[in-house]
Amino acid sequence: MPKAELHLHIEGALEPELMIEIGRRNGVELPWPDAESARRAYDFRDLQSFLDIYYRATSVLIREEDFYDLTTAYLRKAASQHVRHAEVFFDPQTHTARGIAIETVIRGIEGALRDAHGNLNLSTKLIMCILRHLSEREGMEIFRQALPWRRSITGIGLDSAERNNPPSKFRNLFELARREGFMTVAHAGEEEGAASVREALDILQISRIDHGVRCMEDERLVAELVRRQIPLTVCPLSNIRLRVFPSMQAHNLKRMLQRGLCVSINSDDPAYFGGYVNENYIEAADALGFERSDIVQLARNSFIASSLDTIQKQLYLNELQRYDEETP
Ligand code: ADE
Ligand code: ZN
Repeated sequence: MPKAELHLHIEGALEPELMIEIGRRNGVELPWPDAESARRAYDFRDLQSFLDIYYRATSVLIREEDFYDLTTAYLRKAASQHVRHAEVFFDPQTHTARGIAIETVIRGIEGALRDAHGNLNLSTKLIMCILRHLSEREGMEIFRQALPWRRSITGIGLDSAERNNPPSKFRNLFELARREGFMTVAHAGEEEGAASVREALDILQISRIDHGVRCMEDERLVAELVRRQIPLTVCPLSNIRLRVFPSMQAHNLKRMLQRGLCVSINSDDPAYFGGYVNENYIEAADALGFERSDIVQLARNSFIASSLDTIQKQLYLNELQRYDEETP
């Protein structure tokens, strides 16, 4: 089924095998001798225990070709699962803090995105995420460094540890980003509750919420999200692996869909959470008992919630409708 993926951290697509290979070629020491032992360490208690490992693994990424290879591996996998459009997050501060130039990061990712348009018949957008555990001043600094690349960057996002780092901490940065013409998104309502989603909406004035599952704790907020059709990019396997919900059966995705929220299914950090976008659809559908019409609605939402222009959206929606009519 054709679909868009809107919540994917490129650093979270670094499979252990590729991490070991790039680490070897760059002479970077890792705490894991091989891919199997890395995978065994991917047993998370919460968001922070994941982030500690995720940031450690990125230390192998040094040269432009490392970012190119990582992005190409993700795009090939996504295309094989009929992702027709991908909006890719990257975390430049993770790399610049290690002395990697932002142009190395962007050139590598951008080269892979460009090649994928031709070779894999897939459209893409790039979203630069600000690390919320760092200060707004540091966020401003990376934003300034990225401005020469503004034609390659569609949106500005906010990720990393939500606890103790509320959206309001980045009020000025997001105001500037909007003024400069960027689409804005933010992780909210993953680790923290509905108040965090409310702040992202009111103070940062974002146009899409990443995760947002805990909005369901506030009925007034839900009513507004439904009325305004603010998209929420939900990542079911991530939520189970980071213990936002105790099991897939306990996930609230079906309730969100039935309530009329514009929810889509995404993989977040597929190398860490046990699956790419199709595995997320399949495991959520099996556990929550989705009808075919629910699954098609989720894919429809993924295109509607994208930052594509109206004509491109309609072309993909037509493709999805054709698939639905022609596939038994
Ligand atoms: N960075 C990568 N994945 C993330 C997530 N699920 N939440 C916050 N920051 C992240
Ligand atoms: Zn995420």
